[in-house]
Amino acid sequence: MSAQPHGGVLVNRLASEAERPALLDRARTLPRVPITARTLSDLELIAMGGFSPLRGFLGSADYHEVVEHMHLANGLAWSIPVTCSATAELADSLREGQTVALVLGAEPVAVLELEERYRYDKQREATQVYRTADEAHPGVQALYQQAEVLLAGPITLLRRPQLAGPLEAYHLDPAKVRKLLAERGWRTVVGFQTRNPVHRAHEYIQKCAMEIFDGLLLHPLVGETKSDDVPADVRMRCYEALIKDYYPADRVLLAINPAAMRYAGPREAIFHALVRKNYGCTHFIVGRDHAGVGNYYGTYDAQRIFEEFADGELGITPLCFENTFYCRRCGGMASTKTCPHPAEARVSLSGTEVRALLQRGELPAVEYTRPEVAQVLSDSMRSAHPNP
Ligand code: ADX
Repeated sequence: MSAQPHGGVLVNRLASEAERPALLDRARTLPRVPITARTLSDLELIAMGGFSPLRGFLGSADYHEVVEHMHLANGLAWSIPVTCSATAELADSLREGQTVALVLGAEPVAVLELEERYRYDKQREATQVYRTADEAHPGVQALYQQAEVLLAGPITLLRRPQLAGPLEAYHLDPAKVRKLLAERGWRTVVGFQTRNPVHRAHEYIQKCAMEIFDGLLLHPLVGETKSDDVPADVRMRCYEALIKDYYPADRVLLAINPAAMRYAGPREAIFHALVRKNYGCTHFIVGRDHAGVGNYYGTYDAQRIFEEFADGELGITPLCFENTFYCRRCGGMASTKTCPHPAEARVSLSGTEVRALLQRGELPAVEYTRPEVAQVLSDSMRSAHPNP
């Protein structure tokens, strides 16, 4: 049996087929609030239940509790504010109690029942949630680019977004994933978050978990990421290649998480775990520097933060892994918990080093990446930068 959704009920805020045409007609007549692709990702996760118990964008009481204490006003754990911003000029033109259309490009994508408008302190949010006010941090940068007033209230999504190309086949909503997990009879399910092409350390920690639990939900995040992260369609091809040759197909479910990346390290690890709980996971992998970027977080901060919650409070159990690597002396993957050999025996590459290799037309070593995965990365690099 899958984990209960966070708060007990899987939220559904998607307009039904029956109500959609009238709601869309009405939305076209409502005051328009422009949104970004990041907000559309949030809208989808709210509407399909990935952000249960949220039914819309946070009001000020929830917002302050989340920023200051990692809980909603009703006491449920929640670590990242989910908000929708508007310019002061636009916010001033709206009334509380009014329904507004959230618009991406020319078309309304959702309606918001506006319950509250409030100003917020971006620097405070940055230092609390991201542990830095540095605008070079990509999550903080996105926060600073938001407008100055937050609009709050329940939403209704008009239409579920379609994803580009090969991603759509893996675009499974929480209810669908839960159904598949139940059909497979998995009682324990371990979730894996990733925003990077899969390498041997990822595979190793997934498989350590697979030795113990009934199944793996491989759940790459495909919403907005930093511009130098590898595009989601390439990452999916890497996963397909790996699963095809190295995983028993009946013990892994590959699906995408449409969320945008925040790079909030520890706070985002909690958030990632709660979202995977909503997708039905009972356990969640947190390795080294989970959801980190640059040197903003300590290697294991994203594991330690779980200790700040009471036992059982989150309703999903973190599985924490040390930094893992290939050790030539051990002849396999290991961590400092299992390998006594010196650093020279260990193979670890950074994403930057791998990119440099691929750009020179070389494939990373088998100790770092499976050859089938390296080939996908190399092919994608060649098609992105063909020789003149
Ligand atoms: S993340 O931003 O999604 O966390 P990434 O895709 O690199 O980035 O990591 C996915 C998961 O694997 C995270 O839980 C991360 O901590 C873990 N991880 C990545 N590399 C290693 C490694 N070498 N050793 C242990 N855990 C790792």
